[in-house]
Amino acid sequence: MSRSLLDRQLIVVTGKGGVGKSAIAAAIGSVIASRRRVLVLEVDPRENVHQLFGAPPSGGEFVELAPRLHLQNLRPGQVLDQLVREKLKLERLARRVLESPIYRHFAAGAPGLEEMAVLGHALRVLRGEAPKAPGADVVVLDAPATGHGVSMLAAPTLVSEVIEKGPIGSMTREVADLVGDPARTGIVVVTLAEEMPVTEALELRETLSERLKREPDLLVVNGLYPPVARATGRGELFELWKRRRAVNERELGRLDREWPEARAELPLLPLGRGVELVAGLSDALRQSLEGGAP
Ligand SMILES: Nc1ncnc2c1ncn2[C@@H]1O[C@H](COP(=O)(O)OP(=O)(O)OP(=O)(O)O)[C@@H](O)[C@H]1O
Ligand SMILES: [Mg+2]
Repeated sequence: MSRSLLDRQLIVVTGKGGVGKSAIAAAIGSVIASRRRVLVLEVDPRENVHQLFGAPPSGGEFVELAPRLHLQNLRPGQVLDQLVREKLKLERLARRVLESPIYRHFAAGAPGLEEMAVLGHALRVLRGEAPKAPGADVVVLDAPATGHGVSMLAAPTLVSEVIEKGPIGSMTREVADLVGDPARTGIVVVTLAEEMPVTEALELRETLSERLKREPDLLVVNGLYPPVARATGRGELFELWKRRRAVNERELGRLDREWPEARAELPLLPLGRGVELVAGLSDALRQSLEGGAP
């Protein structure tokens, strides 16, 4: 199942804040880029995925990272504005609409609309319809932290119930089809093997099943301390390592019981927060997905 995850068109990476979603999205992108053309799409005004690749910030533009691998940091408002511009080809009229308080209010306030815009953008990139976009066979979406991650996936259904007509209506239906199709869209949940993140990951799994009637395709347990095994030592650091590893093992046990779907376990890598970290995580992920021990 995880093997075929790499064959999807859209991979949504989600999970609690700070567990390593961006790093894992970068690693998944790197793994897939060995075979297919990938866009890593970051939706976070703090912009930090470029650092993981040692690249300049995207600022909304497409940045080439490697052969077959691009990055874009996307502001959802940017996509809606672009759609209006395309539909209203007269630049002055488009500008008046974009600047009008009614439009700004609509764009900022409609529930699910921003999430829809992000997914709609992903779809247009996949189809080669987004202006200036590089060709991409896969979009890896670094989704906002948990609650928002689910709203992201639920948005198309929500919006399509409200807006049926016009360009947004038809885009919404197509996005709902994409996201609702497990053969095309994969969901990756990232967690740490610690109490709160695991609890949230399990809740996220339940919400997905209730609201979207589907299971996540892969759970990535990130940042695992190495097994203490027969190592001996003393001192504060050794004790800390033993304690953290004991928590990790307890939570892995809980996941054994409560998370039936595929799981990849990735180590805590003391490699800063740049290209070396992504390379290390990519290797571990590749091995894990191909069935070898990481
Ligand atoms: N396996 C790992 N080993 C070591 N450091 C890691 C690992 N995974 C992530 N990190 C580091 O942990 C920090 C948090 O990771 P990241 O930014 O990917 O989390 P996030 O879930 O995207 O956070 P946010 O919710 O704030 O967007 C970063 O500094 C990252 O470089
Ligand atoms: Mg992040």
